[in-house]
This record gives sequence, C-alpha cells and structure tokens, in this order.
Amino acid sequence: MEVITNPRQMQTLMLSLKRQGKKIGFVPTMGYLHEGHLSLIRCSKKENNITVVSIFVNPIQFGANEDFGRYPRDFERDKSLCEKENVDYIFYPSYEEMYPDGFQTYVEVSELSKGLCGDFRPGHFKGVATVVAKLFNIVCPDNAYFGKKDFQQLKVIQRMVKDLNFPVNVVGCPVVREPDGLAMSSRNKYLSTEERESALYINKALFEAKRMFEDGITDPNLIKERVRQIISQAKHLKEIQYVEIVDSNTLKPVDKVKKSDVLAVAVYIGNTRLIDNIEF
Ligand code: PAJ
Repeated sequence: MEVITNPRQMQTLMLSLKRQGKKIGFVPTMGYLHEGHLSLIRCSKKENNITVVSIFVNPIQFGANEDFGRYPRDFERDKSLCEKENVDYIFYPSYEEMYPDGFQTYVEVSELSKGLCGDFRPGHFKGVATVVAKLFNIVCPDNAYFGKKDFQQLKVIQRMVKDLNFPVNVVGCPVVREPDGLAMSSRNKYLSTEERESALYINKALFEAKRMFEDGITDPNLIKERVRQIISQAKHLKEIQYVEIVDSNTLKPVDKVKKSDVLAVAVYIGNTRLIDNIEF
C-alpha cells in the first residue's frame, strides 16, 4: 500500500493505471475509520482492480461553529486498517494542496442540498460537492462508494455526477450498525457511556417506525410523532433537529408513506450531533 499526498502525482498515477486497463474503485472519507468505512472498502475491493481511499477532513464542509477543529483524527490507525483491507493507495492531501491561496471555485447542487441537514448546516453540501468533485478529478475512479448513512449526501453526489457528466458510477452502500443498532459514525467517539445509551433511542425509534409502516400505517405525521416520542425518552437528548419522511429521489416530504421512502432524523445527544435514517 502506498500513501500519496500530492494531488498531481495521484492524478498522473491513476491516469496511467487506467491506460493499463485497470478499474479503479474509490472510497472518499474523513478518516477515523470504522466498520462503516471498511464495508465500503470491501465493496470496492470486490468490484475493482485498484482501490483508493482518501482521508481528508474537509474544512469547507464544516460551519464556523461546528467540530472541524476537534474532529477525531488518527492517521496511523487508519493506515493500518487500510493495510489490513489490502487497500492499494491512500490519498492523504494537505489543506494547502487541496485549497491553495486563491481557491474560488465551488459546486452547488441547489435543490437536493435544501431541507433535512441542509437547513441546519448552511453551506455543508456545497463543501461536500466541491471536495468530492475535486477528488473525482484527482482519483479518476470508475466506481465510487458512499454510505446510505449520509443519505442526503449520497443523493447530492449522484445528482452532481449526472449534472456535470462525471464518468463515475456512484454506488450507495447499506448503513452499518453496532450490534445494538447504533449507526456507526466517527462522531460516536464524542459520546460518553451514558450518552451512548441515550443515542440508542434513535435507532429504536427508526425501527419502530418501520414496524408501524409494515403494520399498514401510512400517515407520516403519526409515524413522525411516535419517533419524536421515543427519542424524547433519551436522557441526554438536547435537541431534535428534524424528523422527516421524504421521497428517496426528491428528498421532499411525503403526504402518504410508501415503500422506499426514507425516514431521516438529526438529533443532538449532549453536544454531539447524530444523524440516522431508515428506508421503508
Ligand atoms: P465520512 O463521514 O468519513 O464518511 C465516509 C463515507 O463512509 C461516506 O460515504 C459515509 O456515508 C460512509 N459511512 C459513514 N458511516 C457509515 C455507516 N455507519 N454505514 C455505512 N457507511 C457509512 O462522508 C464523509 O466522510 C465526507 O462528507 C466526504 C464524502 C468524505 C467528503 O468530505
């Protein structure tokens, strides 16, 4: 496994591998890898000749009052996890190389970036779309793997790829959970033992919602109310930012719940913002 930090060197290398007919799979991450990330890597390993993982905590997708400064980072740990998974290349650029002085070009996916997390994290998806566009141009992947854990992000990237004709196939992969149901996230590290107990109400609520739908309930308000009720039992709950049921293509709220709609929530447990979702 090789670690490459220079974008130009990465791009040259990838273009030459492609000329040799290699299929390139790409897993963009912000590091502090967990089983969720590793599931994407395994998927890429199966479907490509070369697997590239990027590790870059992207400053422009964090708001001024968000956790960019304290976002967990441990490159040596990430490196050994990637080595174990037989990753071929890690792309690990510096901030200066990704955003040199004078940087001023951004990608904005206008409609899908609204609603859900977009309403609470202004500029977030613009930061995500911009860095992913850059990474796609640097890594030139055939296939790129994203988790459904960040459902809105996946939709934004799929739209961007379509609208800007990126020659990349975007693959959405299932949410990986802890044995007790908590969705894996690098931010789970922020949770104290007690807060983690509280966080379990989130997945409990989502699974209950799915059960209600399977029992024939299609009124979104009934389901959303029950979800809020369950999450409100969490001792360390600070704020429910949203509980929404949306159409999985438009991300617009639905009047009647149907199969493949998505229930998405964002919740503060203590000072930690957690998101989760489930597909009906
Ligand atoms: P990060 O939060 O590190 O996530 C990297 C990828 O792992 C994303 O596609 C995310 O959806 C996926 N992932 C995270 N937790 C998961 C879980 N429990 N199950 C399945 N997949 C999971 O998302 C980002 O980084 C950044 O926004 C990025 C796309 C790298 C752009 O900076």
